[in-house]
Amino acid sequence: MVSCNSFDTEFIEIEPIATHFNGMEFISMQECMACHQDIVESHMQTSHYNTSFKTEATTFEEILKTHPNEIRLDDGTTIVIRKEGDFIYQDFYSRGNQSPVIQSPMEITIGSGFRGQSFLYWKDDGLFQNQGSIIGAMEGWINSPGFASQINNTRAVVPRCMECHSSYAPSIKANLNRFTNQYIKEDVLLGIDCQRCHGEVKEHVLFHKKNPEVKVAQHILKYSELTQKQRIDACALCHSGFRQPAWDTEERKFVPSFSYQVGNDLDDFLVKSNGNSSKKQDPEIHANQIKLLMDSKCFKMSDNMDCATCHDPHAQERGDYQNFSLKCISCHQTQNHTQKTLSLADADFEDCTSCHMPFVDSQAMKVDLDLKDLTPISIRNHFIGIYPEK
Ligand code: HEC
Ligand code: HEC
Ligand code: HEC
Ligand code: HEC
Ligand code: HEC
Ligand code: HEC
Ligand code: HEC
Repeated sequence: MVSCNSFDTEFIEIEPIATHFNGMEFISMQECMACHQDIVESHMQTSHYNTSFKTEATTFEEILKTHPNEIRLDDGTTIVIRKEGDFIYQDFYSRGNQSPVIQSPMEITIGSGFRGQSFLYWKDDGLFQNQGSIIGAMEGWINSPGFASQINNTRAVVPRCMECHSSYAPSIKANLNRFTNQYIKEDVLLGIDCQRCHGEVKEHVLFHKKNPEVKVAQHILKYSELTQKQRIDACALCHSGFRQPAWDTEERKFVPSFSYQVGNDLDDFLVKSNGNSSKKQDPEIHANQIKLLMDSKCFKMSDNMDCATCHDPHAQERGDYQNFSLKCISCHQTQNHTQKTLSLADADFEDCTSCHMPFVDSQAMKVDLDLKDLTPISIRNHFIGIYPEK
């Protein structure tokens, strides 16, 4: 749109990159650069930002040279990973067959690549998960977690999966949302960007561009004005384990994924899934830091703890134990460790987490490394406590 007023030309309307079904316009993260360059650059290094992206075939050159690029399934099927030009495929050979029965492209990568990555492909508007995944940081190919060891390359990628691993993925039929894997392809926004946690930002950008002298943030949600529950819900959307869409009694349908916005009460949108948990199982660890944290004394006995007490949501901090230990020490200036504890050989008191937040095996994330045994993946335990065995 051309403006007649020459004074306005540098404030041209920002082109949205997609529109949410609630009307909110998504804009490019590049729009934040002018005023929040540090945060944008730091955010681009995070697991959040890198949790989904268009697969780039060149990143597989190394593993294709150094690994057996095939997965053998119990039913005799062999999946062979093949790069062809700018594309990478999974070819399925059934027992004895010379030519592949399926050739499946790896179009979208899910996972920043710390524990592993899964690969999705489009079939018309339908989104499916490839059977072959990567374990660890390009450490080898595996049958995707949760798949039986037999040929089955048509696992539908449901909206809830995208709700945790992308910024936006609108369903074509939102009212059937719960089970459909049909998406409006051109509106899918990969990676978790600013708007996933900060909501509507377009007005904020327009305002501050027009009013550079204003140093107090306008037209933007403020975490400092949210309650503790609202702040925790913002992370709980994706970090409180398995939840299923709530039933909307007025609309008589399940609340579609991507409806929740920061500030809302999450429980109105997603309910804790207690299906088939007849046995009171061990606390589920996969993607469930919230419950564990809330059960620990640190949380219960301090005033306003939330995830940002220890985590900078815009920084890649994995492995920076000194930084995390400083967060512990900010509340625990002194620690009453017994002589016995203090004299433990190879104890590292610079890293409080090694004893108080030890790794535990996830029951949900298990991978098929050698076909027979499912190897659980270990996850950091957010139940902060005393583990005498450590
Ligand atoms: C033209 C300048 C400008 C642009 C562009 C801009 N902002 Fe801001 N923003 C500000 C100013 C000024 C503040 C207030 C000072 C501060 O906190 O840095 C602010 C503060 C914020 C805050 C903190 C709000 C609070 O007080 O809790 C958030 C969140 C934010 N901006 C997000 C964004 C996002 C996301 C983008 C890109 C889509 C963006 N901003 C683009 C100027 C801008
Ligand atoms: C839209 C879903 C979503 C929201 C909202 C979200 N996360 Fe995450 N988070 C993820 C996913 C998915 C991963 C795993 C990313 C990967 O490695 O592929 C992750 C990973 C992390 C990690 C591990 C980072 C690392 O070093 O690998 C931390 C810490 C984390 N999130 C904290 C938070 C906090 C704190 C909040 C709230 C301010 C939050 N997350 C909100 C989805 C989300
Ligand atoms: C995973 C969720 C998440 C994402 C993604 C995210 N933020 Fe934030 N952001 C937060 C939270 C939570 C706070 C409040 C932190 C606190 O309480 O200390 C915050 C605070 C801010 C602030 C004000 C405080 C500060 O650190 O200066 C700005 C500005 C901001 N974010 C900008 C951005 C921009 C720009 C992006 C995208 C490049 C972005 N955020 C992406 C969760 C997120
Ligand atoms: C409830 C939110 C949620 C849902 C639903 C979900 N994930 Fe995740 N996923 C996470 C979080 C959070 C992590 C980071 C590890 C953790 O905290 O358990 C993760 C980790 C992963 C990883 C490993 C990433 C890495 O590099 O370490 C992959 C791959 C993955 N998820 C794929 C999927 C796929 C594919 C689906 C859907 C079929 C899915 N996830 C559904 C939240 C979710
Ligand atoms: C916001 C303040 C705060 C932070 C940050 C914090 N704690 Fe705590 N923590 C507490 C409070 C309050 C208690 C209960 C009173 C006490 O035991 O000192 C507690 C209790 C504990 C306990 C005793 C638990 C039990 O079951 O008896 C341990 C161990 C502990 N914290 C370790 C840690 C570690 C390790 C970290 C960093 C990863 C940490 N805390 C971060 C406030 C905090
Ligand atoms: C008391 C400090 C503390 C609080 C509060 C806290 N975390 Fe953590 N978190 C840690 C530490 C320490 C790690 C280990 C980091 C590492 O291994 O590099 C961690 C790791 C993680 C990881 C990566 C898990 C893994 O096994 O890879 C995720 C995801 C995460 N936190 C999410 C959250 C969420 C969501 C919240 C809010 C409910 C939260 N954390 C609150 C200290 C904290
Ligand atoms: C080698 C393992 C180990 C390391 C490392 C460790 N702790 Fe502990 N911690 C323990 C044990 C065991 C106890 C129970 C008391 C005892 O037997 O010493 C304890 C008790 C505590 C308590 C409860 C007692 C009290 O002071 O109220 C707090 C808080 C605590 N630790 C904080 C920390 C912090 C903060 C760090 C990092 C600076 C840390 N611990 C490092 C093993 C460890």
